[in-house]
Amino acid sequence: MTRWLAGPAMARANALVGGWMAEAGMAVRVDAAGNLVGHLPGSDPDAGTLLLGSHLDTVRDAGAFDGPLGVIAAIECVARLRAQEVSLPFSVDVLGFSDEEGLRFGTAYLGSRAVAGTLGPELFGVADADGVTVGEAVAAFGAGPGAASRRGERLLGYCELHIEQGPELERRDAPVALVTAIAGATRAEVRFTGRAGHAGTVPMELRRDAACALADFVLAVEAAGRSQPGLVATVGRLAVLPGAPNVIAGEAVASLDVRHADDVVRAAAVDALRERAGALAAARGVELAWEQRMATPAVAMDPGLTELLATAVAGRGVPEVRLPSGAGHDAVALSELTGAAMLFVRCAGGVSHHPDESVQAADVAVALDVLHGFVLRLAEVAGAAEPSASQL
Ligand code: HGY
Ligand code: MN
Ligand code: MN
Repeated sequence: MTRWLAGPAMARANALVGGWMAEAGMAVRVDAAGNLVGHLPGSDPDAGTLLLGSHLDTVRDAGAFDGPLGVIAAIECVARLRAQEVSLPFSVDVLGFSDEEGLRFGTAYLGSRAVAGTLGPELFGVADADGVTVGEAVAAFGAGPGAASRRGERLLGYCELHIEQGPELERRDAPVALVTAIAGATRAEVRFTGRAGHAGTVPMELRRDAACALADFVLAVEAAGRSQPGLVATVGRLAVLPGAPNVIAGEAVASLDVRHADDVVRAAAVDALRERAGALAAARGVELAWEQRMATPAVAMDPGLTELLATAVAGRGVPEVRLPSGAGHDAVALSELTGAAMLFVRCAGGVSHHPDESVQAADVAVALDVLHGFVLRLAEVAGAAEPSASQL
């Protein structure tokens, strides 16, 4: 399954998930960035809005839970609140973000950054492999009128339920975890330009083979990732042009993804790799073009919201586990708008970004109870709804 920003699969997902939002009693719309938004009004228009949700887009050949689990869990939470006739003072908006993975345009968090009001206008000009820009894609998708930004609104925070995408919860035999922080990440596009030529006639010593420069770079990225604890560095996408068996590659392009919990370490690793790429290119007489596509700082989760999640975990009678996230999430973008908290759900083998992604229904049931308990406790703290003891 592959579902990218403003594509046909995304339109189908918005229709299906939007139907579930409507069934749960929410007003449904698509905002100007293609995000799906379900709105449940609160009893007090001045009490502000709690944002819940996750992303509906995927990587290529994805699993079914990275993103959608958090959107559907948030809808289920709203449906349960309505079934219990809990009257919340604040509104609840469930967001199905349109582009967390950045598959189509090589960026990330386009949907959630639009909501956070941090999406620079320059990003609307970024083009996909077919030359379609973000602005054109979103307009063609039928995005809603008006800006997607929620900046300036009274927001109580953002809470995201997401699969762990790692092996820790299995190792500790726990169903859920509170997320402490999300690692910072840098993404870049690295292009080597040599000289295409006839594979049969150009002597080896005269070649300016871009594919060989790229191969050196890929191994340099792996070596960098292994060079210090907590650092990860990946080339996930490669292109060799013109891409014919009997033509020496004139161009070679690599994606780069570097992450670390400490922004200083990550920045130094990226700088060192850029220098190394320059040296590799020079040694082969090829040109280097380095385009940074995104750099997001490490983000700590909101302590107050996380403590509310912790009381809900305790209330559910499961062990409290706290984990950092090596994976990025829309909570990174939302944390620039309002406090953000995350709840991880155990996933089989920690496998993610792969069709084998899976969760246990029993773990999701625990996570739903925790999310529900979180909302009720937030309502208490917000000093309004007095949920009955049985509901806590
Ligand atoms: O790349 C990530 O960490 C996330 O899955 N977008
Ligand atoms: Mn995700
Ligand atoms: Mn992902």
